[in-house]
Amino acid sequence: MQPMKFALIGTGNIATTYVKAMGRIADGEIIAVVSRSDDRAESFAKQHSIPEWSERLDTIGGDIDGIIIATPNGLHWRDTCAAAALGKHVLTEKPLDITIKSMERMILSCRESGVKLGVAYQHRFHPVNRKVKELLARGALGTVRALEVSAKFYRGQEYYDSAGWRGTWDIDGGGPFMQQGSHTIDLMGWFFGKPATLIARTATLGHDIPVEDHGVCIMEFENRALGTLTASTITSPGYNPRIEVYTDKGSFIMVNNEMVEWNIDDIDNPGASSNFSSHSGASSASVADTTLHERVVEDFIGAVHENREPLVHGEEASRATEIILGIYESAKTKRAIPLK
Ligand SMILES: NC(=O)c1ccc[n+]([C@@H]2O[C@H](COP(=O)([O-])OP(=O)(O)OC[C@H]3O[C@@H](n4cnc5c(N)ncnc54)[C@H](OP(=O)(O)O)[C@@H]3O)[C@@H](O)[C@H]2O)c1
Repeated sequence: MQPMKFALIGTGNIATTYVKAMGRIADGEIIAVVSRSDDRAESFAKQHSIPEWSERLDTIGGDIDGIIIATPNGLHWRDTCAAAALGKHVLTEKPLDITIKSMERMILSCRESGVKLGVAYQHRFHPVNRKVKELLARGALGTVRALEVSAKFYRGQEYYDSAGWRGTWDIDGGGPFMQQGSHTIDLMGWFFGKPATLIARTATLGHDIPVEDHGVCIMEFENRALGTLTASTITSPGYNPRIEVYTDKGSFIMVNNEMVEWNIDDIDNPGASSNFSSHSGASSASVADTTLHERVVEDFIGAVHENREPLVHGEEASRATEIILGIYESAKTKRAIPLK
């Protein structure tokens, strides 16, 4: 089978991750790059031996099968709708987008154009997370009673100053809940579903930015389980994301996808034999270890070839943004917010 041909939109941090990841995949190749600037597109293309470049997606040659969107959060909908209109499959970076309306538009435009929509919540591909999901889904871990979830990262002011969109409401869509913490919130929602109700507080404590740099949230789930969630970019030096789970059968604690505590009798520790590296993002936005992005791209190519949904398709990825928007609404109104 011919490798699937991709165009990449964006020439920043995560665009480089895709170039590296694709270099390790037999079934896919990046053959074009699109940038707001022709010079940047040319320089990125030459640096990475990509044969074609352009300032416009619609001028890229006709034999592209899919588009990888590596642009800022609040532009994913624009680029997705443009790609779908050209009949190209779309693999976008997380979060899917930053508003309900834009996510609905993305899902609808891909559906109407008959193209796949995949989202790079890459931690879902970690083997430990997949085993935990499977055990939870078949009820083997008992009834969940309590959760403690944290994404306590660190970013200096220079991170926010490094690009005009970082730490803005209109393009970043928020602070550490929408940006760094969205992976952990996606995993939490995948494992346990959306909280039924939440109440949150956010603050800007250590940066000159309009969005939050620290926030806490209390969640109540449909089965009355209670959870707490913290997201931050002020917690120096930056800690690995952590998910603590307490059920009526025992408890377990995961740190950056690894099982650091397993106290559930009669079920083998699903993390015992994991030797699978993954980037945590605790103190840096660059994803040097591309292993999980390789899995994302492979699954996406498989979805196109087999005409099935990618593991993280549009509706699946919407959940994290819905939770995050609930958190922001609660922080703004100082009220408990029920999630639909
Ligand atoms: N999955 C992960 O672990 C992970 C990690 C990091 C980032 N991300 C996600 O990847 C996306 C990009 O993040 P990044 O860190 O790569 O950002 P970045 O370094 O700023 O790169 C974004 C690129 O998008 C292009 N762009 C198009 N319109 C833009 C605009 N109005 N403002 C700024 N840039 C614009 C720019 O390329 P041109 O100037 O050439 O057009 C820019 O280089 C975000 O959605 C982020 O959440 C995901």
